[in-house]
Amino acid sequence: MALVIPVILGSVRQGRNGLRAARYLVHALESRGHEAPLVDPADLGLPLLTRMYKEYPKGEAPEVLERLAALYRRSDGFVVVSAEYNHSIPPALSNTLDHFLEEYFWRPSAIVCYSAGRYGGVRAAMQLRAMLGELGTPSIPSLLPIPEVHKALDEDGQPLQPWLERQTGRFLDELAWYAEALREKRGGGVPY
Ligand SMILES: Cc1cc2nc3c(=O)[nH]c(=O)nc-3n(C[C@H](O)[C@H](O)[C@H](O)COP(=O)(O)O)c2cc1C
Repeated sequence: MALVIPVILGSVRQGRNGLRAARYLVHALESRGHEAPLVDPADLGLPLLTRMYKEYPKGEAPEVLERLAALYRRSDGFVVVSAEYNHSIPPALSNTLDHFLEEYFWRPSAIVCYSAGRYGGVRAAMQLRAMLGELGTPSIPSLLPIPEVHKALDEDGQPLQPWLERQTGRFLDELAWYAEALREKRGGGVPY
């Protein structure tokens, strides 16, 4: 079943490795027949949050927020790609996510974390999991941690390590299962 799953990237740093991971996930989702638009806060020029999307009068939000809201409303789930900055999530990711709330509701998320070191960003992932729960897009049980991300993926997001593709297959199977289940359930209405 084709799903709509935006890939939300959370790094805007010059020379960021996050683009490798995000591109990899976009390719992996698309090769399974899903629609996987990249949400890149650097490319979008996403402003620092001064007002949430819902705090704007109808029709007065910046165009970039209107476009993202429309995308999220037709989405079936989210892949969130996070680096680890000081054992936590990058500020750009928090900023990207915080603009919205209800638009995420009743949809699953899946966490891809990465780092230049050997732990793959899992400490940030644990904080991200709590945050995504609060945002109403609870994360699936599995994580996809990518240690030494600069060695695991090239700049175009092509995998350089066989283990990565094996783990990605299982991870995306799990996300699709949750996304399909919740899509069917959303079709019958949501609690509020
Ligand atoms: C501000 C900052 C803090 C960092 N803190 C950590 C950390 O706590 N743990 C870790 O494994 N790597 C840490 N790193 C290294 C990152 O894993 C590495 O730079 C990674 O490429 C960051 O993602 P990005 O390139 O997409 O910004 C940090 C990097 C930066 C810039």
